[in-house]
Amino acid sequence: MTVIGTGYLGATHAACMAELGHEVRGVDVDEAKIERLRSGDVPFYEPGLEEILRRNLDNGRLRFSTDYREVAQFAHVHFLAVGTPQQRGSYAADLTYVRSVISDLVPLLEGSHLILGKSTVPVGTAAELQDLADLLAKENTKVEIAWNPEFLRESHGVEDTITPDRIVLGLRAGSEAEETVREVYASQLEANTPFIVTDRQTAELVKVAANSFLATKISFINAVAELCEISGADVKALADAIGYDDRIGRKFLGAGLGFGGGCLPKDIRAFMARAGELGADQALSFLREVDTINMRQRDRVVQFAREESGGNLLGTRITVLGAAFKPNSDDVRDSPALNVAGQLSLGGAAVSVYDPQAMANARREFPTLVYTDTVEGALEGAELVILATEWKIFRELDPERVAGLVAKPVIIDARNVLDARAWQDAGWRVRALGRSL
Ligand code: UGA
Repeated sequence: MTVIGTGYLGATHAACMAELGHEVRGVDVDEAKIERLRSGDVPFYEPGLEEILRRNLDNGRLRFSTDYREVAQFAHVHFLAVGTPQQRGSYAADLTYVRSVISDLVPLLEGSHLILGKSTVPVGTAAELQDLADLLAKENTKVEIAWNPEFLRESHGVEDTITPDRIVLGLRAGSEAEETVREVYASQLEANTPFIVTDRQTAELVKVAANSFLATKISFINAVAELCEISGADVKALADAIGYDDRIGRKFLGAGLGFGGGCLPKDIRAFMARAGELGADQALSFLREVDTINMRQRDRVVQFAREESGGNLLGTRITVLGAAFKPNSDDVRDSPALNVAGQLSLGGAAVSVYDPQAMANARREFPTLVYTDTVEGALEGAELVILATEWKIFRELDPERVAGLVAKPVIIDARNVLDARAWQDAGWRVRALGRSL
């Protein structure tokens, strides 16, 4: 099989498919990325991936190429795993890369081929791509487009691919591709992974609906957190209490700085844009509120920082712990942590940032912030500390030791992960979203 697009999703999928015993070719137009992957170097931080990549390069099951001609001859099953970012100046998804894979690959194919879409796309895309493929396919060549959405979380990519919690497959009417897909995922299906075979539009919608639900859950708890703060209640205890109801569940009720990354924010926007195109914009207008609540968390943390700086950020030395959009990742796309650091810096604060993995990406995105090599270095002389991404090393900081490094022991726990009492006992003033400490 081939995996076209070798970003977080594609590189992980390619390596894991090889790990499961398949012969895999990973393809990308980015020469530099392919060169790094060929040499066993994962171009991003994903725990456990490098080991699998190297093992399967060594055993020869996994290879990488930039040449569509080569991969067109290599396999009959092709995974489409290129990005669908938000369009400039619009909420809609940009399908340029998805479409160009079809127009570059399909004319080179011969015989019978199955293209399995993994990218997150607006409903109706698979049908549109099928029309394009039918137009471009050689005579006597059959190309079928099916949708097989991906649910992997960055930082858990390997386990989510090898042992997914479900597999969804969307097929066109009369398709015989299910058997092929059963072979691809034989080991997962043997382990009784739920397998939902449906039409293509349902499969496309499953993905955006799942991400929108997760985003809604986070914004729900963040909205309630605002109420908790005003009324003197505690959002963590509240989330624990409602989370015991298994219809609700405790996961994704982590109140704080909110969601970011390359998926949730752009997916809810693309979902709204598609609903509008289909004449159902009212159905999803609540997602605009989900988005607004989420963005407001960043402003609220900046507001807390302003209050702690005596009403004016000018000159305040602030340390922001975390730059990645979530722990165990180096991804800074739409990162709440970096957004806050940037806003504080633009407001005149002297901001110092530390992240265990995302420094290089953060520096590229926001070159004007000060990046420090160690967490101690970042904390030295700080008048305010903001915990913005809940990396383990930040959760485990010793409040007494840190108090000896900073100029003023004031911390905003923007992810609600610290033992507030222990920090207070060590002399810290602690603020958190949704809690009146
Ligand atoms: C998300 C989905 O969880 C995956 O299932 C999906 O496959 C993926 O998008 C995708 O579409 O490719 P991911 O973006 O890796 O995965 O990150 P999540 O673990 O979902 O976290 C998203 C954001 O929500 C992070 O910024 C995290 O800090 C935040 N979050 C999460 C909260 O603010 N509170 C919570 O309780 C949980």
